[in-house]
Amino acid sequence: MAEDEDHAGSQATDAGSQFGGPGAPTPLAQLEGNGISARDIKVVIEAGYNTVESIAYTPKRALLTIKGISEAKADKLIAEASKLVPMGFTTATEMHHRRSELISITTGSKQLDTLLAGGIETGSITEIFGEFRTGKSQLSHTLAVTCQLPFDMGGGEGKCLFIDTEGTFRPIRCLAVANRFGLNGEEVLDNVAYARAYNSDHQLQLLNQAAAMMTETRFSLLVVDSATSLYRTDFAGRGELSARQAHLAKFMRTLQRLADEFGIAVVITNQVVAQVDGGQMFNPDPKKPIGGNIIAHASTTRLYLRKGRGETRICKIYDSPCLPESECMFAIFEDGIGDPSPKDMES
Ligand SMILES: Nc1ncnc2c1ncn2[C@@H]1O[C@H](COP(=O)(O)OP(=O)(O)O)[C@@H](O)[C@H]1O
Ligand SMILES: [Mg+2]
Repeated sequence: MAEDEDHAGSQATDAGSQFGGPGAPTPLAQLEGNGISARDIKVVIEAGYNTVESIAYTPKRALLTIKGISEAKADKLIAEASKLVPMGFTTATEMHHRRSELISITTGSKQLDTLLAGGIETGSITEIFGEFRTGKSQLSHTLAVTCQLPFDMGGGEGKCLFIDTEGTFRPIRCLAVANRFGLNGEEVLDNVAYARAYNSDHQLQLLNQAAAMMTETRFSLLVVDSATSLYRTDFAGRGELSARQAHLAKFMRTLQRLADEFGIAVVITNQVVAQVDGGQMFNPDPKKPIGGNIIAHASTTRLYLRKGRGETRICKIYDSPCLPESECMFAIFEDGIGDPSPKDMES
């Protein structure tokens, strides 16, 4: 598939945007002609579909909800998009080759990177959950910087998009990490697109803007810190659970679409609540992540953080399609996430 990616990259350059790099998407303008007009493209872009991939991956039903897109037009769009985006069967060999080219973003800790077989995977959703002060936000800040590093330093050579729902983003923490990796602090901060989300509708709506920005420039990481907190406050009533889950499912589906479409790493953080439905008998302090099945199924890799002594923390792989259920120790430092001292590692 390397040829296809190169192909997409060169097309993008022709279109005058800054696409490129592994997993680069194809701008929607490529579909113009062949019964699809510039006006059609404009209408579809306004509805939040910016790339050929987004059309290819979306169900026809969704395209039909766009004002100005008829049934015939939707069929045409899907047919043309499918010609440019490989959607059929491939071999496991090809899949293996493609996966070996997937980039992982370093966490700043060798222990953690080893546990994760390289770092945070691009093209999928990684959930980081744990109690307060377990390092979810600190890890997010470190990744916002390391995603900008060159590939050969464990980076993703792209910008970061950071959606903050708790008001805990601090640029100064990114500056400290930038300094550690010898990056220009000003540039690093300029490469972090930040938005504070104020309610769950806003949080979802920001993803539309994110998609538009990702078509303009190469991003390698999208952080949502945290993905669930606004849902807890917006849907607090007992009768609102199914509405909450439906909204959350839509949010998670959109995140997955961005991961597929732009090949970015998506990192969401999540809190835990006390587990009341049994379990206490075997586990004296049962905690479970918020969001139930929706978050569980939508996240490809789930990491559970808990406190260790001092600045140390423990990360456990809670669920992954290819990593065993193991754990490791890392630490939170002034200059970001790193490895604990040998002394801490022993104890
Ligand atoms: N500048 C810093 N240097 C070292 N440790 C820090 C720094 N800032 C915050 N921390 C540590 O990070 C922890 C908070 O982690 P955080 O990621 O905010 O937790 P949460 O999981 O709630 O998001 C605290 O224990 C704090 O001591
Ligand atoms: Mg936090």
